[in-house]
Amino acid sequence: MEKREQLYEGKAKKVYKTDDPGLVIVSYKDDATAFNGQKKGQIAGKGVVNNTMSNIIFQMLEQRGVPTHYVQQLNERETLVKAVKILPLEVIIRNVAAGSFSKRYGVEEGRPLARTVLEFSYKNDELGDPLINDDHILALELATEEQLRQVKDYAYAVNEGLKGFFLERGLKLVDFKIEFGLWDGKVILADEISPDTCRLWDVNTNEKMDKDRFRRDLGKVEETYQEVFQRVQS
Ligand code: TMP
Repeated sequence: MEKREQLYEGKAKKVYKTDDPGLVIVSYKDDATAFNGQKKGQIAGKGVVNNTMSNIIFQMLEQRGVPTHYVQQLNERETLVKAVKILPLEVIIRNVAAGSFSKRYGVEEGRPLARTVLEFSYKNDELGDPLINDDHILALELATEEQLRQVKDYAYAVNEGLKGFFLERGLKLVDFKIEFGLWDGKVILADEISPDTCRLWDVNTNEKMDKDRFRRDLGKVEETYQEVFQRVQS
């Protein structure tokens, strides 16, 4: 597979063309941002962790019947993936109150939720990724009804797969964000699943083991990414 010109550079990844129009290469950076890019930094080794961890998880999810963009890891930071058209939705699943949910509804972080919560944000940096509902999505034609149903079914399936996977590794899955794309007309899981996109708390100590250490200046950022990486590989 030949790597061709850069197609796109995002906050945490770059995407390159290949000689196959159906496939692209994603390259994970150590750059970290928060609060819609207002806070900027670097987390040494993050690109390697997020690339490899996403690939391990995507293969686990494929085995559980969730189609993903994953094709083949090329090196520590780069992976060959299916070239999808990303649906402009951030799909968030919450098992425990935290982050913007706690702030918005005035509930303490760590409060268990009486049911799993699925919410959508409209993926649009200029607007600050506003919360959006099913009616908004259909009215704005961001997805069809069939795609929306598929996205939700897969999101709940990802939650079930991830909860067990992390619990076996001593991590509680508080919440996470995923993105989907269209490939060959079908909805498939794309982007990444990593400490950048999940809240993970140690089951014994409740210590935060994710990007909140960077967002909230909690220290031990690099060490925490490496610790999660060790556990994921075990
Ligand atoms: P929130 O509580 O800030 O809305 O975040 C919910 C989950 O989504 C959390 O696991 C972090 C993740 N997330 C992203 O992956 N990207 C983002 O831009 C934001 C705001 C959150």
